[in-house]
Amino acid sequence: GKYRVVSTKSMPGTRWIRLLTDNDCRLEICTEKKTILSVDDILALIGDHCHGVIGQLTEDWGEVLFSALKRAGGTAFSNMAVGYNNVDVEAANRNGIAIGNTPGVLTETTAELAASLSVAAARRIVEADQFMRAGLYDGWLPHLFVGNLLKGQTVGVIGAGRIGSAYARMMIEGFKMNLIYFDLYQSTRLEKFVTAYGQFLKANGEQPVTWKRASSMEEVLREADVISLHPVLDKTTYHLINPERLAMMKKEAVLVNASRGPVIDEVALVEHLKANPMFRVGLDVFEDEPYMKPGLAKMKNAVVVPHIASASKWTREGMATLAALNVLGKIKGYPVWGNPNAVEPFLDENAVPPP
Ligand code: GLV
Ligand code: GLV
Repeated sequence: GKYRVVSTKSMPGTRWIRLLTDNDCRLEICTEKKTILSVDDILALIGDHCHGVIGQLTEDWGEVLFSALKRAGGTAFSNMAVGYNNVDVEAANRNGIAIGNTPGVLTETTAELAASLSVAAARRIVEADQFMRAGLYDGWLPHLFVGNLLKGQTVGVIGAGRIGSAYARMMIEGFKMNLIYFDLYQSTRLEKFVTAYGQFLKANGEQPVTWKRASSMEEVLREADVISLHPVLDKTTYHLINPERLAMMKKEAVLVNASRGPVIDEVALVEHLKANPMFRVGLDVFEDEPYMKPGLAKMKNAVVVPHIASASKWTREGMATLAALNVLGKIKGYPVWGNPNAVEPFLDENAVPPP
């Protein structure tokens, strides 16, 4: 192989490996056993000769790593994730490193997990499972694990991009929920979908579903019964859910987060869960992963899973393939693979001239 490409983790599937090794790349997959690599670990991997790196969202990609990659002769980095809050894009641009992420292939898988968390929280599935396994079930009771009916309630979506819109569609079509959403951009496709589905229900003699684009996030928080967060994490969305905004929500609301942990003030959330036993959350992400804020693990009204929203076999193989395509595309020059997603949403064209 002419080009040395490093992957900081082993990733699912073999297609991504073949893509690289069939196309002049010598691939080195890090075999380090610890889950989260430090900057020093990655510096050692890059060494003094490296053309591209596939990295993970747990790694801190800033000036130190990008300048090292540049010195090693590198031009390409791809995160194996759609979110890239772990990447300092300006530092990459300064060092002439093109950045890729993996949108698209994880949309439905991630939305399906957000939908699962919504149902699990609304219907208290994890609590009930623990009760069953603890041998506490001694017969059917009218009051046993009574939760919320979703049909006819309102689903609130904050951030109606690819994942938020797919989630909305699932909750609307699956549970006949009404929609309220907040996004800086109008989601015409989503609005058209709800309108058409509402007409379909009406034609069948059923109550039609409705939609509303909120003029503020607060409007969603006040009105929705189930709220799912799908923003990008940046300075403007850090602690988007704070004590004031928690207080606006209905006492029996369900809040779901499969975006990034710091979007929620997790300490405030734990307080809110303690004070409002009927309020429920479903969390895939946490403020200080892999840790949870004190008290969260004890809350029965919280469903918690370890950042697995994109974890389906098809999607993880797709993410790995896309990450490999991103790096390969840059190394070999566009548009080798005609991949519309490569280095797509945030490459600064001015800073990194195309080959
Ligand atoms: C996973 O969290 C991703 O951003 O792809
Ligand atoms: C519950 O099991 C019922 O049959 O209503």
